[in-house]
Amino acid sequence: MKNDRILIFDTTLRDGEQAPGAALTISEKLEIAQQLAKLGVDIIEAGFPVSSPAQFEATRLCAESIQGPVICGLARANAKDIEAAGKALAVAPKRRIHTFIATSPIHMKHKLKKQPAEVLKMAVEAVGFARSFTDDVEFSPEDACRSEIPFLCEILAAVIEAGATTLNIPDTVGYVLPYEYGRIIAELKEKVRGAEKAIFSTHCHNDLGMAVANSLAGVRNGARQVECTVNGIGERAGNAAMEEIIMAIHTRPDFFKDVQTNIKTTEIFRTSQLVSRRTGFVVQRNKAIVGANAFAHESGIHVDGILKERSTYEIMTPETIGLTGSRMVLGRHSGRAGFADRCKSLGFELSKDEIDAGYAKFTAIADKKKEVFDEDISAIINDEIRVVAQVFSLEYMHVSSGTGTLPTASVKIRTKGEIKLAAAFGDGPVDAAYEAIRQATGVSPQIEDYAIRAITAGTDAQGEATVRIRNGKRSFLGRGVSTDIIEASAKAFIDALNRMAGAEPTERHAETKAEL
Ligand code: KIV
Ligand code: ZN
Repeated sequence: MKNDRILIFDTTLRDGEQAPGAALTISEKLEIAQQLAKLGVDIIEAGFPVSSPAQFEATRLCAESIQGPVICGLARANAKDIEAAGKALAVAPKRRIHTFIATSPIHMKHKLKKQPAEVLKMAVEAVGFARSFTDDVEFSPEDACRSEIPFLCEILAAVIEAGATTLNIPDTVGYVLPYEYGRIIAELKEKVRGAEKAIFSTHCHNDLGMAVANSLAGVRNGARQVECTVNGIGERAGNAAMEEIIMAIHTRPDFFKDVQTNIKTTEIFRTSQLVSRRTGFVVQRNKAIVGANAFAHESGIHVDGILKERSTYEIMTPETIGLTGSRMVLGRHSGRAGFADRCKSLGFELSKDEIDAGYAKFTAIADKKKEVFDEDISAIINDEIRVVAQVFSLEYMHVSSGTGTLPTASVKIRTKGEIKLAAAFGDGPVDAAYEAIRQATGVSPQIEDYAIRAITAGTDAQGEATVRIRNGKRSFLGRGVSTDIIEASAKAFIDALNRMAGAEPTERHAETKAEL
């Protein structure tokens, strides 16, 4: 039985938004706050109300419209900040004021230019004043991890007495290592007078890449609130990444025996995507939990293992974070077994020969592309196993185009054992290629429709061209796929010509006659 709740305090909209270049509009903040509520976070730090009218309004709107989580506003340890936070939060059914002041010698001397006694007095007064707006008051000794423990003990005991209910221990500059951070939490819990009346919280920055590890060390040592941001965004190297903390606790119940969070893990991926889209911060491909490669297995040995038993190479399932469908991307190192299995799961029932032919084409594509997606495989199979008589086949094509040049194409087409050569100009490279194909094949149907789209993402995606040609009353659709879109277009045209050539001759002539 898990007794202890770990409160998840999301500061994406406050500390996260302080990341250079991450400015969010008020409506974007609301949209993210709504998603955070769906995700099940306990507290949303919606902003720093005194800092700008927009921050005030965003905090006020969250307070007004977000149901479920406690809405929190940040305030320095002065009356003006606290009053602004109190006002912005006034309508929230559950509200918290988070007040802070620096306690490290370096910050007190150079930034605040104040003696410790004065800092302590300001902290106590701030907490007392914040309590006049709400019973839920959090205090942070900024730069706690470079502060002296005896002073931290003194100031934390004093703010508890003044009414602080949460004590947050920020590693403001991301300086400490997990062992140290855990020890600081344990020591404060043990030595601060009245510690049992407050919840200890972690707030770790990632300057040394330790933010998540430090937060987890804090939890192991008695912290029961974790402050974090979605995708780990935040000042400089960012804050502790929420999704990593959640999934570490979720995946290692043996290590985090008695604790649980309220997070609905299946909302993690959606939340990550939303924050990435709205902030414009792309999630790095290899980012733990939510990166595009986080559940992608490529090497033959891994794919083979996963197919036999997922737990061989997967410590959590993609479904847990809300990813549906397989994310197993095939690539150059994927084996034939992986390819055959994927074809099967895509609904293709293939003979051994068909798999061999498909796999040969797959490896050729995988050599050109970093990743081969399901859509690529479907395209390969559809190309490889369809039974269209090859009246025309493209043996060679050269296209030249560019700014200030006349697009030209030359083609070599095999038909009925003969080679036909042609060259042509056109309005663009596709038009030139089509004209050359018309001349080489001697067939000149009307082109009704032409389209090209990327089957998968990225500039190395396969392009799929579709072309509809008309011969009399009948039209024929051709498809072509290639990483080169001109080649895809030519293949589509040849495909359509082959379908036309393979159509019932009587029917074809009848239609043509009827046209005449
Ligand atoms: O990193 C920090 O110290 C902060 C405080 C305002 C809590 O963000
Ligand atoms: Zn911070």
